[in-house]
Amino acid sequence: MKKIVLLVLSATLLLTSCRQRESEPQESMWDQKTDSVLKLMTLEEKIGQMVLYTSDWDVTGPTLRQGYLDDIRKGNCGNIFNAHTAAYTRKLQTIAVEESRLGIPLLFGYDVIHGHKTIFPISLGESASWDMEAIEKSARVAAIEAAASGINWTFAPMVDVSVDPRWGRVSEGAGEDPYLGSKIAAARVRGFQGADNNLSDTLTILACVKHFAAYGAPQGGRDYNTVDMSERVFLDTYLPPYKAAIDAGALSVMSSFNEYDGVPATGSKYLLTDLLRDKLGFKGFVVTDYTSINEMVHHGVAKDDAEAGLLAVHAGVDMDMQGEVYFKYLKKQVEEGLVNESQIDDAVRRILKIKFKLGLFDDPYRYCNEEREKRLVYAPEHLDASLDVAKKSMVLLKNENEALPLKKGEKIAVIGELATSTRDLLGSWKAAGDWDTIHSVLDEIKAFNGDKNVLYAEGCKKVGDDRSGFLKAMGVALLADKIVMVIGEDWEWSGEAASRTNINIPGVQSELLEQLTKLNKPVIVVLMNGRPLDLTRENELADALLEAWYPGTMGGKAVTQVLFGDYNPSGKLTMSFPMNVGQVPLYYYAKNTGRPIYLPNDKYKSKYIDSPNEPLFPFGYGLSYTSFVYSDIKLSTAELTKKGTLKASVAVTNNGGRDGEEVVQCYVRDLVGSVTRPVKELKGFEKILLKAGESKTVTFEITPDMLAFHRIDMTYGTEPGDYQLFIGGNSRDVKTTNFKLMP
Ligand code: BGC
Repeated sequence: MKKIVLLVLSATLLLTSCRQRESEPQESMWDQKTDSVLKLMTLEEKIGQMVLYTSDWDVTGPTLRQGYLDDIRKGNCGNIFNAHTAAYTRKLQTIAVEESRLGIPLLFGYDVIHGHKTIFPISLGESASWDMEAIEKSARVAAIEAAASGINWTFAPMVDVSVDPRWGRVSEGAGEDPYLGSKIAAARVRGFQGADNNLSDTLTILACVKHFAAYGAPQGGRDYNTVDMSERVFLDTYLPPYKAAIDAGALSVMSSFNEYDGVPATGSKYLLTDLLRDKLGFKGFVVTDYTSINEMVHHGVAKDDAEAGLLAVHAGVDMDMQGEVYFKYLKKQVEEGLVNESQIDDAVRRILKIKFKLGLFDDPYRYCNEEREKRLVYAPEHLDASLDVAKKSMVLLKNENEALPLKKGEKIAVIGELATSTRDLLGSWKAAGDWDTIHSVLDEIKAFNGDKNVLYAEGCKKVGDDRSGFLKAMGVALLADKIVMVIGEDWEWSGEAASRTNINIPGVQSELLEQLTKLNKPVIVVLMNGRPLDLTRENELADALLEAWYPGTMGGKAVTQVLFGDYNPSGKLTMSFPMNVGQVPLYYYAKNTGRPIYLPNDKYKSKYIDSPNEPLFPFGYGLSYTSFVYSDIKLSTAELTKKGTLKASVAVTNNGGRDGEEVVQCYVRDLVGSVTRPVKELKGFEKILLKAGESKTVTFEITPDMLAFHRIDMTYGTEPGDYQLFIGGNSRDVKTTNFKLMP
């Protein structure tokens, strides 16, 4: 390893660190090591650590612009993203370590969102599993494969709560609920960084919580648009998942593109320092989202990039992603006294400390081992895990006339472009996943059911109005016992910069579906999409609807196993599916309003004249091939004292003919508050497996702290009074009881 850094480390630190290892906590050892490096750095080199540049893509993989290679050499760029493979990152790391003056190793970031090579279902799909172990495992596998490919930092988890399916990025999150979102945020951080946050383990990577903050609420669902919400809604609904990820140990945070309360997040001292560091106790570093420093000029809070840079550095941004603003202006601003060098030192300390924690100073090439990469990427157990999560993430929305499960040997007509697409299986953040070597839904149905029992016709494309394939599809369907039509959105229609004003199934796919239903055969619709869609029409037409999301590398097999009943579906929606786009935003924890509807024909009530208020499929909803019944709720006490615990139990019985899993959900409503309160809030859930005929009692424990919120004076705490408690298999169909929170 490189000269000066090594020299200093060995001369000034090895002695002390040996002694300290036993006597002092590791944190302070890292602090000292960090300081010893910082002392050697010029101002330019310090600023270089605050710079992050992207690699580009060539047919053969990532490449870096010549200018950036020189920047690494000169110590002007300390971090790279979008570069991967052990061999390529080794090449870049060698330049940093061998050719720059101090030899400080690079961080390698990448959007490893739901898998690196082995791709798991999109994050929204994973959330529908309500299975924290499976979600943690998915992030673990992603971390192992990414780390094996030279990556040590992922831009995940994305924890933005969103109630607006027009926004394409709902595909990247965990849905509409802050409680479930918090559990998932923590599970993903544990998966990436390891349960004990041991970053020096070469199979863990640094997590980055994004996008801080409130990025999930752009007006009109239009990406990058203005966010404007009350502080109370922000703190009670949008903040909890970020907090949960930080509490779980995430050591980097990405500032978001949007404004909050008139201030772009990247220039917000309130968000990045007062809240994030001072209140939430965040100890890692803050990176911008892409060019969000520069974008403050467009937001209209800075006259030029230099001024935007000042806003960012004073707000608490430690690293500039791709904007080149810190690189161009920060040095001069320090020299002119506009920025204190101690601010730069603080930022650099935070970044270097992570590099120490990752063990990069001990061995900068620890992530660049090609033999390890070969062994770990696409390891059979990773593919198994991906298959497992894909099955768990699928949500059965409708199943009538015993359309599902399919029976082996039945003649199945498979229709739709998405049935043969492998690219769409991976979704928008496919990281380094390959799609030319994986199996489509059609491939897997054929493999399972036998070639001769499966007939295929494309029928139509995902988009466009070409109906020329309808006839052939009808002909093929005529010969079959059942029809499976795979429809949905192109993978590029969800994710970043993929907002829609219309959330219907695109093109003429549903028109063909309508034609097919005229054949009077069972029609099963498999959906691939990255957001809640308006499925009103398809729900009327099809006998069965299976929401498969973009299910990942093993998605074809997962769909097949669910369709044929090899796996009994257990997923539950984590976002409400509206009846029409006009209802959006639509979420289960809405307020009651002063004019709730009690009687259907009451005119002056909070309702639409052309649509019900209710969603088509509510939050928490999902069917199984078996069915479950819930007993009435039993409470351990109807009076919850300040230090007490209330236990609420139900017996759940599988009264169908198959073993199955059920997600039992517990909600609470605070009936009278100093401010208006949601009609329901999720407070607990448990996923249970019940054999056919089996009953189990599920008990939820409610403690007063779970009922806290920001009260009228903005203090956080509880209010005594009357509450309702609900338990059920979704947010709509519940058993209800009441209790009191005592003063
Ligand atoms: C996205 C981030 C992502 C970053 C780096 C941005 O455009 O908003 O989520 O991490 O790009 O790829």
